[in-house]
Amino acid sequence: DHTKLALPVGTTLDRFIMRKQEDFPYATGELSQLLRDIALAAKIVNREINRSGLIDIAGAYGSQNVQGEDQQKLDVIANIRFIRALRNGGEVCTIISEEDEEMIQTGNNQGKYVVAIDPLDGSSNIDVNVSIGTIFSIYRRVSPTGAEGTEQDCLQTGTHQVAAGYVIYGSSTMLVYTTGNGVNGFTYEHSLGEFFLSHPNISTPKTGAIYSINEGSSEYFSEGMAAYVAYCKQQSFSARYIGSLVADFHRNLLKGGIYMYPATRKAPNGKLRLMYECNALAFIVEQAGGKSSNGRTRTLEIEPKSLHERSPLFIGSSELVEKAEEFLAAEH
Ligand code: AHG
Ligand code: MN
Ligand code: MN
Ligand code: MN
Repeated sequence: DHTKLALPVGTTLDRFIMRKQEDFPYATGELSQLLRDIALAAKIVNREINRSGLIDIAGAYGSQNVQGEDQQKLDVIANIRFIRALRNGGEVCTIISEEDEEMIQTGNNQGKYVVAIDPLDGSSNIDVNVSIGTIFSIYRRVSPTGAEGTEQDCLQTGTHQVAAGYVIYGSSTMLVYTTGNGVNGFTYEHSLGEFFLSHPNISTPKTGAIYSINEGSSEYFSEGMAAYVAYCKQQSFSARYIGSLVADFHRNLLKGGIYMYPATRKAPNGKLRLMYECNALAFIVEQAGGKSSNGRTRTLEIEPKSLHERSPLFIGSSELVEKAEEFLAAEH
């Protein structure tokens, strides 16, 4: 167990990455470079988001993604910016993105890493100035370098992630990530163009009084799901649901709480995608002392079968997730 490098708040992300690299004697700096490439793209997307409404990048793009969702202009812009930053960084051979049906080959066939990304999470909130995010998950490729990445490289279980994180473009812009040694949060200072360590060693409360679920789908909840929501109300929990997974997750991570996107009769596997939404946040929440499952199976142990497969998600404070799983189990 690595001694948690107690770096002072205010350390820049670059210095933090360099210092933390000492945790990985075998590391040759590629993962560090990859994290810097992601931070660069986050700064660029942050600037586009802050200008949306002023320049013509708000609104629908006029095409649909493989999920059958109408792509927003910022969905497409964020996707292009992250793919370009990862391609130019040279460390990533293949990318899977919510916005592209097929694997994206970067041409960096010597790259040792694969990235799964949700470039813009919470698209329905883009034009109404509500917090949105980016979610990313990083794997080491299993195929030999020197050729394009394979589907096998992309469909690894969540336990094989080497890093995962998210950006939240909210009242402030933050980058939160883990490399398997705890979770650290960095806040962006626009005037300096730097991320500064603001939330070292984040640990999530083991219980909480916030539940996040779209109760508009109550008609389609299973008995157990309906019973758990009723339980939350009996406990006088606060209902908080922003409609951006990253924003709901981040609030619950810091305050304690549970976010749920269940299987419903309308959506038998829920709505959220395993590879670039569920797995990344599941790695983070476990590193912060919380839990994540599909209601029965630990999210990180779900065997992926396809790039864009969906999974129900119950994620947050360990005691709340365990309680929800009890209610769901009771229905059988
Ligand atoms: P995305 O914008 O990347 O497609 O993700 C949207 C997701 C998630 O961010 C949010 O929590 C959820 O969809 C909201 O879904 P409902 O509107 O069905 O509640
Ligand atoms: Mn979408
Ligand atoms: Mn999303
Ligand atoms: Mn998205």
